Amino acid sequence: MSAYGNAFYFTMNENSPIGVFDSGIGGLTVLRELLAELPDEDFIYFADSKNAPYGPRTVEDVTALSSKIVQFLVDKGCKIVVIACNTATAAAVYSMRKEFKVPIVGLEPAVKPACLKTRTRHVGVLATEGTFRGAHFKNTSDKYRKYVSLHLEIAKELVELAERGVFSGDDVDAVIQKYIDPLKQCNVDHIVLGCTHYPFFRPVIERIAGDGVKIIDSSEAIARRTKDILMTTNMMRTENPNRTVRLYSSDSPEKLSLIANAYLDEKVTVEGNVNL
Ligand code: DGL
Repeated sequence: MSAYGNAFYFTMNENSPIGVFDSGIGGLTVLRELLAELPDEDFIYFADSKNAPYGPRTVEDVTALSSKIVQFLVDKGCKIVVIACNTATAAAVYSMRKEFKVPIVGLEPAVKPACLKTRTRHVGVLATEGTFRGAHFKNTSDKYRKYVSLHLEIAKELVELAERGVFSGDDVDAVIQKYIDPLKQCNVDHIVLGCTHYPFFRPVIERIAGDGVKIIDSSEAIARRTKDILMTTNMMRTENPNRTVRLYSSDSPEKLSLIANAYLDEKVTVEGNVNL
């Protein structure tokens, strides 16, 4: 950790913002839950759209990118950092916790709740190759392996569509059909959205999956986990009538602004593009 980062760590307090990042716009699906769960907190969000997708990148690569982003958020005075990306969590959460002193919250696909709820004992999981390679996914799926069959799909094209701002239409239907049909053939009754870009497509996924299939993701769970850490460390802000939500992108700020203002339930400011 740099001395600069440390200096900010020691000056932050409960009024400091919460940092959130993803390989791109996917983490907005987590930010939406965080905004609802923590209405008095300020937020800073970093979308690394220039380097998306993270899914096919090596662990070393994703760790190096994550480290630069966490440093950026720490330098902005963030009191906690939420990795709103399954792939970056899989690759880098442990090294980020070693490198930085702020609490680092990670997320993983909601495999456990799906395994506990399934009746058919077949669960579909959509995620990136980086997430499927990671220790979190392996450990969780190993625990339920004896009782539940997991059926995996790397839904790479959904990340690309989301980054282009395309969320519906014939192309989206065709791509989703391609991922969902094999899962339905395996009799899944739950599909886990194990990448934060995928919940943008939830209505289409639900329609194509049909009535008997429940779609679940981790965004509510990570928002509650973040709140829990803030409450139990006395760092939760409880009064802030004019909270700020500032967004940064390593790519086009206009695109991020368009998508964020359409998707989030409150107005956000896009501060401009950043080259880390
Ligand atoms: N949104 C990310 C995740 O949750 C990664 C997508 C990507 O960049 O490949 O895994």
